[in-house]
Amino acid sequence: MHQVKLADNIYYLGYNDRRTNLFENIWPIPNGVSYNSYLIDDEKVALIDTVERAFIDDYLEDIDAILQGKPVDYLVINHMEPDHSGALRAIVMKYPNITLVGNKKTFGFVESFYMKPVNTLEIHDDSTLELGKTKLQFQTIPMVHWPETMVSYEETNKILFSGDAFGSFGTLDGGVFDDEINLEHYENDIMRYFTNIVGKYCPHTQRAIKKLAPLDIKMIGATHGPIWRTNLDWVLSRYNKWSTYTTDPGVVVVYGSMYGNTQKMAEVIARQLSVRGIKDIRVYDASKTHKSYIINDIFRYKGFIVGSCAYNNAMFPNVENLITTVEHMGVREHLLGVFGSFAWNGGGVKNLMKFADSCGWDLVSDPVEEKGALKEEKYQKCIDLANAMADKILA
Ligand code: FEO
Repeated sequence: MHQVKLADNIYYLGYNDRRTNLFENIWPIPNGVSYNSYLIDDEKVALIDTVERAFIDDYLEDIDAILQGKPVDYLVINHMEPDHSGALRAIVMKYPNITLVGNKKTFGFVESFYMKPVNTLEIHDDSTLELGKTKLQFQTIPMVHWPETMVSYEETNKILFSGDAFGSFGTLDGGVFDDEINLEHYENDIMRYFTNIVGKYCPHTQRAIKKLAPLDIKMIGATHGPIWRTNLDWVLSRYNKWSTYTTDPGVVVVYGSMYGNTQKMAEVIARQLSVRGIKDIRVYDASKTHKSYIINDIFRYKGFIVGSCAYNNAMFPNVENLITTVEHMGVREHLLGVFGSFAWNGGGVKNLMKFADSCGWDLVSDPVEEKGALKEEKYQKCIDLANAMADKILA
């Protein structure tokens, strides 16, 4: 097998998952995902994170091929989510004298998921671990993406092992380093990974970026996606943009519609946005497009106009699911418009307005609600809503 090295004695051990359809059993990954672990073969041997359990056999075999019988001394646990800790038990069984390296939150997770750890080394911010000619330094970055999450910085080669931070959906199809692949091909998967998985924790990501800023980083080895050694600014600037809720001047229009009346309102709104000069308009049927992609575009664009028909006196369920996720993600600093239709009592717009009241976004106009099919008066109100949104987007 090819051995991929980050430095003389530092190896990439990564595996491509093209079988899983839903990451975390929620998020579609049509382009797959990679799970990346790293091995430092020095006087002392250290693994940095492990891999998803489906790859345990390959992983153990690849470690053997490098170490040729030498034991692993340390398992550094940057992150305990099972896509990275899945081989932890297998590693401990194979190397019973191994020391698990983590922070005060890590070992509780080890015990609750796998086993009571035997040999542990608890680190704090700025703690170091000498391996020989390489030395690791640790920094905790809580909630990027779990409470125990930390990073490991290899001082000799200036490599940051960053856990989920700077990761990506998408398998590594031959190219492993950022300069071996076409980044444009990965950009959507990198953003969708961020917005779907880490997006709830933007303030924590900002704190992590600031905390790590003093480090002289020449390479980033994340637990998913490419290893960054040439275009570090490319990914760092994007993470900074996304985690500060910085958006582009476009509008996402989402609707839930049973028989097309709410959809017709969405079409009118979208057309008027275009007439007003908005170029990036993304219209989604909440029943057709998975929320993973819609959330991603909500992070990307400043405007969000959402419409729902009434369904059993409530919001249309697929719109409700999306709105619940938007609330859960805590997305900030957007412009909002609301519309919808009903047959008798309503429930779509009424419940969307509860979201409008609680989300803290700028509601650009009164909501537009039609009874039954779209008629002239509410057609004009849809035009007005689109104009109000366009005014603020173009201001
Ligand atoms: Fe890739 Fe939070 O695990």
